[in-house]
Amino acid sequence: MSSNNGTSPMKGLILSGGKGTRMRPITHTAAKQLLPVANKPILFYGIEALIDAGIREIGIIISPETGEDVKQCVGDGSRWGIRIEYILQAEPLGLAHAVKTGREFLGDSPFVMYLGDNLIKDGVGPLVERFKKGGNDAFLLLKEVPNPTSFGVAVLKADGRIDFLEEKPAKPKSNLALVGVYLFNPKIHDAIDQIKPSRRGELEITDAIQKLIDLGHNVDSHILKSWWLDTGKKDDMLEANRVVLDEMTDISNDGDCDEASRVSGRVHIGKGSKLVNCTVRGPAIIGEDCLLENSYVGPFSSIGDGARVSHAEIEHCILREKCQIIDFHGRIADSLIGVNVELTRSGSKPQAYRLMLGDDSKVEVV
Ligand code: G1P
Repeated sequence: MSSNNGTSPMKGLILSGGKGTRMRPITHTAAKQLLPVANKPILFYGIEALIDAGIREIGIIISPETGEDVKQCVGDGSRWGIRIEYILQAEPLGLAHAVKTGREFLGDSPFVMYLGDNLIKDGVGPLVERFKKGGNDAFLLLKEVPNPTSFGVAVLKADGRIDFLEEKPAKPKSNLALVGVYLFNPKIHDAIDQIKPSRRGELEITDAIQKLIDLGHNVDSHILKSWWLDTGKKDDMLEANRVVLDEMTDISNDGDCDEASRVSGRVHIGKGSKLVNCTVRGPAIIGEDCLLENSYVGPFSSIGDGARVSHAEIEHCILREKCQIIDFHGRIADSLIGVNVELTRSGSKPQAYRLMLGDDSKVEVV
């Protein structure tokens, strides 16, 4: 059974719902897909990957909790010259349920489904081209991982085609994880109509694809060799930030560095930012309108717009917009610091840590 996926334009469906529980407290006030990697919301990487693949119509699945923020941050797509539509998924009932919710938007078009908290290096252009040429009803991206129990897992036949799929198996039969990027034609909708919720109570896209296979449809896959990052937790975010900064090409200094400051390696400094007696070792990005004084910014650091840092050392960190690390006299590493957070050292007695931390905060002291 061969399918021609080239007849109607491909659409994009990006999933940007969820509660981001593993990223609290940061996600108490922000959607996890809007958290910045190299000072750009993660979600924008997905949108831009779809645009680079020639897609001009994107539906974004949003949740009641964070949907308004997502809309406000992303807009109607005009900044990229495309159309973005928002689709509310009232409850997080699974990835296949999200596709069901997007049914009207998707119509009978083939589409790329992209999980909004995923980042892949090589984009999706060549995969879209391959899919359009026809022959497949679904096309999956796979990646060898050390921890397959955390993902959907694919087992391949000797000829490389998919034998079967399992969602988060306790005893995985392969180390090939399903990456959060899938290409489908409309046959997926019939398959979704035929599946039941899983043990975790969700309509799993993995089960719907298995149903396609059981019905005799063509499901092909490609094993990614380049990086793929699923940004669910703090350390994943820092790793994504490291990898993206490592490949950053926009190396320009639009700010103002005094004579005592030293900037080396690949560093981008945004407009209106001022560095006084600072050492910056790239790769690093400093946003717009920041003030950094008597400080060190080490590799793999991203500092958001409007941040202030003085007498501090920052390394392998994401500092969000407008945070203030003032007269800190210490080094901060491997940290993700939210919007408007203030960190300072006080000389007042008794000597103590004085904290005001939101619910679910995590602090490590030495
Ligand atoms: C989802 C899918 C899983 C896939 C993963 C990729 O898992 O169900 O098959 O491997 O995304 O990020 P979830 O993030 O919902 O746990």
